[in-house]
Amino acid sequence: MAMATTVLLLCAAVALAPTPSSAADDAAGFTTFKLYFHDIVGGTSPTAIRIAQAPSSNSSSTFFGAVVAIDDPLTSGPTRAAGTEVGRAQGTYTFADQKTFGLLMVMNFVFTAGEYNGSSLSILGRNEVINDVREMSIVGGSGKFRMARGYVQAHTIDSGATSGETVVQYTVNVKA
Ligand SMILES: *[C@@H]1O[C@H](CO)[C@@H](O)[C@H](O)[C@H]1NC(C)=O
Ligand SMILES: *[C@@H]1O[C@H](CO)[C@@H](O)[C@H](O)[C@H]1NC(C)=O
Repeated sequence: MAMATTVLLLCAAVALAPTPSSAADDAAGFTTFKLYFHDIVGGTSPTAIRIAQAPSSNSSSTFFGAVVAIDDPLTSGPTRAAGTEVGRAQGTYTFADQKTFGLLMVMNFVFTAGEYNGSSLSILGRNEVINDVREMSIVGGSGKFRMARGYVQAHTIDSGATSGETVVQYTVNVKA
């Protein structure tokens, strides 16, 4: 009985702890945590806007040559519930592949709350959006992430086909 209560309390504590403070460290020295990236292209307050394109981009089946600027919310859970925003993903993505939806991502994860408030991660890599899991590099960082190295794995959980808001789970694996 007491044991069950303890387990319940522990579960409650874990559930309440805001990610990324539930970050786990592994033996190789990586800190791992999950974030949810919201790319909002529709509605009255888009966070992703097309800033450049080639004359041929619209006739390309892969929008080749289009460039999108982002200031996308990063939350600790899959929804944008109040109090869950821990930062913003700021930068650009370029439709960089003529054959498939292959994006070049150039962005900073800028933390504005939680354990990493004030720090940032710099991410660069190829994002072939139709793949289940896409890996990109962490090439640096600031604050708690100064001299960071690592990788992120992106996995789309909502394509946004109807809502205009794509939600992507990012698993961050970082050493700083
Ligand atoms: C391409 O399509 C977008 C979205 O419909 C539009 O805003 C833009 O003007 C088009 N660009 C060109 C070069 O036709
Ligand atoms: C994040 O850090 C800034 C600067 O130190 C501070 O003003 C702000 O209150 C912090 N935000 C949260 C949610 O902790």
